[in-house]
Amino acid sequence: MADFDYDVLVIGAGPGGYVAAIRAAQLGLKTACVESRETLGGTCLNVGCIPSKALLHASEKFEEVNSGMLAKFGVKVSGASLDLPVMLKEKDKVVSGLTGGIAFLFKKNKVDWLKGHASFKDAHSVEVAGKTVTAKNIVIATGSSVTPLPGVEIDNAKGIIVDSTGALDLAKVPGHMVVIGGGVIGLELGSVWRRLGAKVTVVEYLDQILPGMDDDVRKEAAKIFKKQGFDIKTSTKVTGVAVKGKKATVSVEPASGGAGESIEADVVLVAIGRKPNTDGLALDTIGLVPNARGQIETDHEFATSVSGVWAIGDVIPGPMLAHKAEDEGIAVAENIAGLTGIVNHDVIPAVVYTHPEIASVGLTEEQAKAKGAIKIGKFPMMANSRAKANDDTDGFVKIISEADTDRVLGVHIVASLAGTMIAQAAQAMEFGASSEDIAYTCHAHPTHSEAMKEAAMAVQGKPIHM
Ligand code: FAD
Ligand code: NAI
Repeated sequence: MADFDYDVLVIGAGPGGYVAAIRAAQLGLKTACVESRETLGGTCLNVGCIPSKALLHASEKFEEVNSGMLAKFGVKVSGASLDLPVMLKEKDKVVSGLTGGIAFLFKKNKVDWLKGHASFKDAHSVEVAGKTVTAKNIVIATGSSVTPLPGVEIDNAKGIIVDSTGALDLAKVPGHMVVIGGGVIGLELGSVWRRLGAKVTVVEYLDQILPGMDDDVRKEAAKIFKKQGFDIKTSTKVTGVAVKGKKATVSVEPASGGAGESIEADVVLVAIGRKPNTDGLALDTIGLVPNARGQIETDHEFATSVSGVWAIGDVIPGPMLAHKAEDEGIAVAENIAGLTGIVNHDVIPAVVYTHPEIASVGLTEEQAKAKGAIKIGKFPMMANSRAKANDDTDGFVKIISEADTDRVLGVHIVASLAGTMIAQAAQAMEFGASSEDIAYTCHAHPTHSEAMKEAAMAVQGKPIHM
């Protein structure tokens, strides 16, 4: 140790990096974390999970009050109006509270925050703000950034062609927002601005939205979003976006080719995926070569091919999700400390925070079928008493289990509380549960979670309320 400034140096203070740094320090390792942003928390806290959820929450409140949908509950409201600057300020307050909280946790755990951009000098040293810092172990947790669309220039300051960061800070509600990409960001941030009054058109290259999700979920989601007023153009490609004055013209044509059309928009949101951040790290100086997708490969312990260099989070293969990065952060710190840090990548839940929410864990029906015989149980939220009482009945719970053993392989939920409900499924799968185990677990009544029990009973062939 005497030879190095630190036992552990983490590059990047997102959910992967800051968690790794705190855990390493908790385990008694002298730790520093380098971050080039002004605040800690990475994409997730600054321009991702947190501000988007704050706006989803606020815009849902606005729509509830403004649309008259509360009248059926006997709540009559008139004269609701939107104060967008206040809504955005409240979101910023949540962000600064949480990012400040990480700075507090760093102090509390004695993690040194080194401000600046890190680049490798060798496998045990990086340059930060003109200084060389050495460490026995270096963890790359540099995250990801927006995938650009060739020929479409994002300018968040101008606010016409924006990425997710720009879409979290629009100065006014656009008359028409065109979202390029029918994935998670497009649907979440599209929901925010639709609820606040924008017409939203989603242009998706593939034949369905939400790639990677279970087919039933993708179909149900498209149906629900269309009902909410989204115009969804699938199998459609964008061939260019021209900006004139304060308007954009989006040129689209069928993905397979053919006659094109132009769509006028006030704001164009580019949300076609994210790419790992490896530029500027000088990885070549340590002989680390990213794979064809630009990711840094690791083994199960999150060690790269270079001794002493580790990697976690969005910059390595796997879903680009904050909780996956966090769990890898804990695991890598434990592995560095000589403990056994494990992440079960087969059981990483994913949630789309629209209304209803969409959540999944494990294999889709299509993936499970490809592996062998399966059983499926499905229960509609329409038959769930709590959802009925709340008049919030869109969606279903679907459980897939292995035909022979009944072991749960995947759970897919479309429901207002899907993001919370999926935790039960993840835990059941982590414990190797069968659908019968879920079916015979007592669930409180009346709760949305009873739909999980009923779906499990449906796998057994005997739901009660259907
Ligand atoms: P990041 O959070 O990207 O952090 C990496 C940090 O490293 C950054 O702060 C960056 O400035 C810093 N950095 C990079 N290179 C260097 C360098 N060379 N030197 C110093 N610092 C460097 N995930 C969810 O699970 N739930 C959600 O609800 C959710 N919502 C999202 C909404 C949006 C709009 C976006 C864009 C993403 C969302 N995500 C969500 C994804 C989530 O933000 C990421 O999966 C997560 O932040 C990845 O964590 P990370 O630590 O790997 O990287
Ligand atoms: P995404 O991968 O979810 O969706 C991108 C969509 O764009 C796909 O449907 C894809 O087919 C489509 N697409 C790609 N190229 C296109 C083109 N040229 N024209 C039209 N469509 C095109 O990516 P997104 O929404 O940008 O989000 C990035 C990542 O951020 C997500 O994969 C997720 O990991 C993370 N995220 C997670 C959230 C959550 O957990 N709730 C919320 C927001 C982001």
